[in-house]
Amino acid sequence: MSSRKLLLLPGDGIGPEAMAEVRKLIAAMNDRLGAGFETEEGLVGGCAYDAHGQAISEDDMAKAMAADAVLFGAVGGPKWDAVPYEMRPEAGLLRLRKDMELFANLRPAICYPALAQSSSLKPEVVEGLDILIIRELTGGVYFGEPKTITDLGNGQKRAIDTQVYDTFEIERISGVAFELARTRRNKVCSMEKRNVMKSGVLWNEVVTATHKAKYPDVELSHMLADAGGMQLVRWPKQFDVIVTDNLFGDMLSDVAAMLTGSLGMLPSASLGAPDAKTGARKALYEPVHGSAPDIAGQGIANPIAMIASFAMCLRYSFGMVPEADRLEKAIAAVLDDGLRTRDILSDGMTDVGTGAMGDAIVEKF
Ligand code: NAI
Ligand code: MG
Repeated sequence: MSSRKLLLLPGDGIGPEAMAEVRKLIAAMNDRLGAGFETEEGLVGGCAYDAHGQAISEDDMAKAMAADAVLFGAVGGPKWDAVPYEMRPEAGLLRLRKDMELFANLRPAICYPALAQSSSLKPEVVEGLDILIIRELTGGVYFGEPKTITDLGNGQKRAIDTQVYDTFEIERISGVAFELARTRRNKVCSMEKRNVMKSGVLWNEVVTATHKAKYPDVELSHMLADAGGMQLVRWPKQFDVIVTDNLFGDMLSDVAAMLTGSLGMLPSASLGAPDAKTGARKALYEPVHGSAPDIAGQGIANPIAMIASFAMCLRYSFGMVPEADRLEKAIAAVLDDGLRTRDILSDGMTDVGTGAMGDAIVEKF
């Protein structure tokens, strides 16, 4: 790859503060490694609405479609609470997901050794945890039709949501899970509710068939999603990759993520299908947290979720696996040194701001 094109969409609130720390890393990688990153900037969310009345402009959408990867900060805040529904800040993110067809949402739950004590679970349950939840992001009950609330006329209303999955959707999401498992500990656990849902029956059938046809070398297990939630809290280290649908994935990834500590630590990736010719896939990387209006502008936001999202970008969009490993190790090393932003601060540790945390990670990298 001659050049690597990144679109940066910092967004609102602490988004720009966290993104500033990733910019430092990009500059350092270009200087030290000749990484050849070319960056463009765009507006998304409330700031885009203020600038041109839309949560993302057509121009910035075109840049996103042309980029090798998009780095997204966070959007929203009380300033835009009264904005019409179609133009609200989140609409920018939804448009990106939809137009880029980002069907695979990857949420790692990694427990940094230095933070094992601050988990709500016992340290031995989470220490060394490294699992990856893969959630189907563009199908299922969040999008299925019919989706209605009807007045039944007798003082009752009826609400309907519809869970819909087609074979190709299950094939492609399970393909992502098996491929990624091969780069990790080679284990996939698929979760559905085949005991009570037809979509669960099909899900199980297609994952099993995909495994048999293309990925027999990967260890596959199946779990009912409710039991999966229980196992995640009981002994999460039994898992490597978990693959599940949009609804269960929404809940299970939140559970898994919080095993490891603060919102300010959690990265994510959303991937599209590989291009038939080049194999390149559209991708967007973003921290799990929002725009944190309560602390925006104070220079105290934790930039690690954004930086760890950039590590995922190196790994999944550019195949820069050694560099991604090094960046994740740099984060762990800085935590081992006792540096903490306010959200993860504990007794005896050094309270640092956003910029100092970013600088320390760049220096260790
Ligand atoms: P939030 O994630 O922004 O904040 C929740 C709490 O965690 C706050 O107390 C905040 O200060 C803290 N926090 C979050 N990230 C942090 C970080 N990096 N460092 C230190 N502390 C951090 O969620 P909230 O408050 O529910 O939503 C705020 C705004 O963000 C809303 O407008 C919401 O719609 C939007 N939002 C946007 C998302 C996105 O852009 N993908 C995701 C979630 C919320
Ligand atoms: Mg959620």
